[in-house]
Amino acid sequence: MSSNKIDLTKEKNIIPDLYKDGIVKVSNLFDQSFLNEIKVAKDRIFSEYPYGQNDNYEKSLDEVAHGGNYPIRNLLELDPIFKRLLEDKNINSMAEEILGKNFYFTSIGMRIIPKTNHILGAHRDYCGGLSFSLLLDDISLNEGETFFYKDSYKNPPPMFVNLNNFSSKIVSTTGGVGDAYFWFPDSWHGRNYNLSNKKTCILILNIENKSNDRKRINIYTDEKNIKLTLLNKIFKLLGNDPNSLLKHFLYCMLRFKLFKKKVEDEKIIYSRLILKNNFSENFSYLNYFKIINFKKFLKALVAKTIQLSVGKNLFVRIKKIIK
Ligand SMILES: [Fe+2]
Repeated sequence: MSSNKIDLTKEKNIIPDLYKDGIVKVSNLFDQSFLNEIKVAKDRIFSEYPYGQNDNYEKSLDEVAHGGNYPIRNLLELDPIFKRLLEDKNINSMAEEILGKNFYFTSIGMRIIPKTNHILGAHRDYCGGLSFSLLLDDISLNEGETFFYKDSYKNPPPMFVNLNNFSSKIVSTTGGVGDAYFWFPDSWHGRNYNLSNKKTCILILNIENKSNDRKRINIYTDEKNIKLTLLNKIFKLLGNDPNSLLKHFLYCMLRFKLFKKKVEDEKIIYSRLILKNNFSENFSYLNYFKIINFKKFLKALVAKTIQLSVGKNLFVRIKKIIK
């Protein structure tokens, strides 16, 4: 499976680059025969589910790609080859270095991006995890590739920022079949349109530390209900509200300043370990607030006030009418 030549955690720059940029590319991770088997499984699954699945893992019959993609959400049940990814030596040792022992794979899926002009705009997901993307097709620019903003995971949510000022920080996850990326899901990222006639596919694995509460993957059998500590309760409240400026700021303050060591020692939910002898986890209040664009901040504040006073459903309807 993993190519024997590589031990990722021993490669000098992989982990420091990941902490510095929030994303790192890895090539030649798997040998060709394993990639071929994955490709065969992928083709078989998409011949059965040409338009992907709905949320209940049922075959989607709608050729229109809602959200711009055809997702497959229960890979482990559809082909045993995918379980081998979860056993891969390099993926496991990277996860242990970044999340500590007893991490969990919390989801594994793949999706095809057909020809579409739909762009998934820059956003961030929950704090503190590690994700892994594997290209299952050759993907060039404007072919449904994901894009990331380097060094953004300690920045305010993208809706409060003028993204044009950060265009030089964009990294596109292009490459050939078998190229892979490790990335932090709290980095700003999005997915580009696909202007070509070629459908492009990537597989995504999400991994979280031992305190996570999304142990959904059916490979875990010995789940116990663990009582959450106060700090875990607080982080649970703050760590998964990607658009909230206040919660994200509080998260950064507690994670990178006030409870740095405690979060590290107890592997609190929605956190990664801090890289030893490295300054990339430094957090600056000044930088955080400097990045916020006042106009965007006001816009978000007004929108939130309207939303709170008229209710979410009416707010969404008003927004549609105004557009
Ligand atoms: Fe995302």
